[in-house]
Amino acid sequence: MTVPPELTNWSNYQNEIYLHGLEGRVPPFTTDLTALGASARDHLDSGAFGYVAGAAGSGATHRANREAFDRRRLIPRMLSDATERDLRTTVLGAALPTPVLLAPVGVQSIVHPDGELATARAAASLGLPMVLSTASSYTLEQVAEANGEGPRWFQLYWPNDDEVCASILGRARAAGYTTLVVTLDTWTLAWRPQDLDQSYLPFIRGVGTAIPFSDPAFRAGLAKPPEEDLDAAVLRWVPMFTGTDRSWDRLPFLREHWDGPIVLKGIQHPDDARRAVDAGVDGIVVSNHGGRQVDGALASLDALPPVVEAVGARTEVLFDSGIRTGADVLKALALGARAVLVGRPFAYGLAHAGEDGLRHVLRSLLADLDLTLALSGHRSPSELTPDDLWHR
Ligand SMILES: Cc1cc2nc3c(=O)[nH]c(=O)nc-3n(C[C@H](O)[C@H](O)[C@H](O)COP(=O)(O)O)c2cc1C
Repeated sequence: MTVPPELTNWSNYQNEIYLHGLEGRVPPFTTDLTALGASARDHLDSGAFGYVAGAAGSGATHRANREAFDRRRLIPRMLSDATERDLRTTVLGAALPTPVLLAPVGVQSIVHPDGELATARAAASLGLPMVLSTASSYTLEQVAEANGEGPRWFQLYWPNDDEVCASILGRARAAGYTTLVVTLDTWTLAWRPQDLDQSYLPFIRGVGTAIPFSDPAFRAGLAKPPEEDLDAAVLRWVPMFTGTDRSWDRLPFLREHWDGPIVLKGIQHPDDARRAVDAGVDGIVVSNHGGRQVDGALASLDALPPVVEAVGARTEVLFDSGIRTGADVLKALALGARAVLVGRPFAYGLAHAGEDGLRHVLRSLLADLDLTLALSGHRSPSELTPDDLWHR
């Protein structure tokens, strides 16, 4: 897939914006991605806004995620010959234009009617991998079509029905999703006051259920198809994909049904990381689900160094939770992440202006990343080490 060079010279977005200024044009909305949550409120109904912005319990984990980035600072280096830079990397053997992926974010149609289709198009236009959630508003096949030649991964919320699970995995492989991300931290939903206070849960309204509802194995278990009896389909699906915790001895089932790389998402403890690697998975994502699951938990960035120390030499460690700026990406990479995933910022971009809004967010993040890499004296993300950080 070829992405035009004016897009992949990431810092060019800065020039483009200033040149547009000569014609009286300004960006569609702010380039400060830390401010997007506030302005997204104007574009979303209160249920959707609460669902995206919300966190578990008191929000302590969500706040800790951001504070952990603030506690660490880049130490800029001078005269480093950083005029020419190369942000390319590889993740699990696949070449990526930058160390940034789009995190799995479910039910995107509550944010914008084009939902995951817009995300698939925007991600493909920049060559960035998207990770499609099991809780997608569109089917695996529809999203694959919108994504075209773009790189795509699939995130599994592990259904407790083996036949349905195998069927969904088979469809994902057939539709060109290369890597399986198994999310472990959301086997049941956390206590989320923003959603509870509005009695808001999209899945029980049949939103974010396109993948199971289009699945032959799932449909075979229904007396009537979901189009004729939505309530029955919801009643079958919700307890199938939420409410059952698993144990390590179930991992071979996934290997049996997925012949590509498998990544476990939601790892925070070095012992779990070791266990994952011993079990033969190909990578892990250090993530606390953006603070949406365990209230009062440690910041995901604070979990990263011990996990990298435990398994960094044996597997690829990806990171998410709290990334908002280019500097944040660099800090996670300096601490040993191979690449990062971004969640809420891209959902807010979608909320502001659909596919174009999402592209604006991604190009802003990547321009900021490129410029901060340059100004801190590096030519490639691979040059960063923990020594590049000052720690309060
Ligand atoms: C609205 C929303 C929906 C999400 N849905 C999923 C999902 O379906 N599957 C999943 O593994 N993670 C999901 N996540 C978590 C993200 O993949 C990611 O871990 C998190 O957003 C990263 O934190 P950040 O939002 O601070 O970038 C969701 C996050 C948000 C904000």
